[in-house]
Amino acid sequence: MATVRFTLEGLAVEVPLGKSILDAAKAAGAPEGSHCGGVCACSTCHVVVTQGFELLEPADEIELDLLEMTEEREETSRLGCQAVIRRPGHIEVTISDESFQTWLDMNERDRDRALRLRGIID
Ligand code: FES
Repeated sequence: MATVRFTLEGLAVEVPLGKSILDAAKAAGAPEGSHCGGVCACSTCHVVVTQGFELLEPADEIELDLLEMTEEREETSRLGCQAVIRRPGHIEVTISDESFQTWLDMNERDRDRALRLRGIID
């Protein structure tokens, strides 16, 4: 098992090995977007891994190419749908603004909860 914590939202969840960061976001109720549905055809699930990067399966060429196109890319950026957890431990993740916005656009009815989680509204 691994624990994944979404830092900006203050949410955490325990997931079995073999699950992705996007799987963890869904399980935690964290607002991580996924426009293509998790098939590595967009970059809207972009996250920055701030702890536990080494616990993840390495990115392949397709993921790296897609990450090149993201505006907020950092050294430990990953596409959440492709970042499969391979080793137990603790992982901390920041959902990118692009990903958060995509989630808001796709989840109109749950929008206020997500905005509250990030402290954007009271
Ligand atoms: Fe589209 Fe991850 S959801 S690449």
